[in-house]
Amino acid sequence: KKKLPLVNKKVLVTAGPTYEAIDPVRFIGNHSSGKMGFALADELASLGADVTLIAGPVALKSKYNSIKRIDVTSAADMLTACLDNFADADACVMCAAVADYTPAQVATQKIKKTEDHFNIELKKTTDILKTLGAQKRDDQVLVGFALETNNEELHAKEKLQKKNLDLIVLNSLNDSGAGFKSDTNKVTLIDRNLNKTVYDLKSKTEVAHDICLKVTQLLTK
Ligand code: C5P
Repeated sequence: KKKLPLVNKKVLVTAGPTYEAIDPVRFIGNHSSGKMGFALADELASLGADVTLIAGPVALKSKYNSIKRIDVTSAADMLTACLDNFADADACVMCAAVADYTPAQVATQKIKKTEDHFNIELKKTTDILKTLGAQKRDDQVLVGFALETNNEELHAKEKLQKKNLDLIVLNSLNDSGAGFKSDTNKVTLIDRNLNKTVYDLKSKTEVAHDICLKVTQLLTK
């Protein structure tokens, strides 16, 4: 029997959206389903990796009991969970749709409907991927995602460099059947040397397989 390629490799995966509280009953969120990240975690586990899955609020379940799941709500929670687990990880695949902005203040009581116009002040969240990129060791592999609507490749390459990634997975909203809620995705992988591979539209399970092959190459080279 062939040995699984990722045995003894620890891989951290983030998945799903984050919810940023406005008050005790409301939040700012996004349409991320978590399907791509969960498919990645399943695929990595099937290759023998020791997977920790940091999941935003989603109702999904993993295929394997061996996957260690950490449920988080906000971008700040996700950052803490990532930092707690980063040093131990051989690879990190950051698939979550992390909020870029969060309310500057969280109201302690439910906000009343009084004003005709109402503003919520937002402040930037910490870019988790960039933070990890800045503390990455040479032996660690860091993978990010980019969802772009225009100048996709240029923006993805800029992110790869700015965040010190080994690989970026570009998914374009311009491709039908790709992105947020669907069960399919169409991706382009770009590595550190700016080598680019364009894939066909496939199920997220198959896309996860393609991404994990590349991650395996990066981890075992
Ligand atoms: O810069 P942008 O948000 O488009 O980058 C997307 C990538 O960065 C994704 O891999 C996402 O998981 C990650 N990210 C993050 N923390 C943020 C924002 C994005 O880890 N606050």
